[in-house]
Amino acid sequence: MKKVTLMLAAVVAACTLTACGGDSAKGNAITFGTNPEFPPFEYVTSNGVIGEFDGIDMAIAKKIGEDNGMEVKMESMEFDSLLVALQNGQIDAVIAGMTATDERRETVDFSTPYYTATQVMIVKEDSDITTAADMADKKICVIQGYTGEVCVQDMGYTYEAFKKGTEAIMELVNGKCDVVVLDSATAQKYVSDNEGLKIVEDASAFESEEYAIAVQKGNTELLNKINASVEKMLADGTINDLAVQYTEAATAE
Ligand code: ARG
Repeated sequence: MKKVTLMLAAVVAACTLTACGGDSAKGNAITFGTNPEFPPFEYVTSNGVIGEFDGIDMAIAKKIGEDNGMEVKMESMEFDSLLVALQNGQIDAVIAGMTATDERRETVDFSTPYYTATQVMIVKEDSDITTAADMADKKICVIQGYTGEVCVQDMGYTYEAFKKGTEAIMELVNGKCDVVVLDSATAQKYVSDNEGLKIVEDASAFESEEYAIAVQKGNTELLNKINASVEKMLADGTINDLAVQYTEAATAE
């Protein structure tokens, strides 16, 4: 009798350690990495949808967790560090307004895209820049590691890279640079927050970009869960509603 009890206890202990019958402990939680310096997709606020984090991406992450019965944890880090942290296994997925590029696809897998964006140029209201080619003899600011940096690099222009969008915008506002190349919705937010700025588009110079969630290469189990949830939110209008809601909130501020 005593032996049976002990054996049972051993089985229970083993089950707790390996979480028998279900996924590992990790399976019931998902840790996303983000860089919350990218409104309206992710930013820090007093009461966000996930702790202090709010924005379109944060609302999407929360729903992915709800759809899959997983607790959502959010880790904040520099944009540059996100894919490294993902490859290290420090985080399970990246949700950061991240454009699914071929270069990034070499190291990670991307979900079904959930948002289409493009790079735009933010300039002073009285700027004479009307096309990307006009940037040739101007002082250009970008944000380090963003696709905007890659675009300007590919155009062969020299530029200065900043850690945060707000830093690049301050340079522009203070007249220390002539143009900031940045994703459209985030650019719109900064233009409405700062007087004297406008957006210049050049569809022939900047290709459209698609935001997607990144997972470790080969993590199809998690990717399938994320995709099912994202595809549902695309089909039922949830993501569209979130985009409208957060864009309005951003411009109303
Ligand atoms: N879409 C751009 C890229 O993928 C910028 C993303 C910046 N996102 C952020 N959370 N800071 O490079």
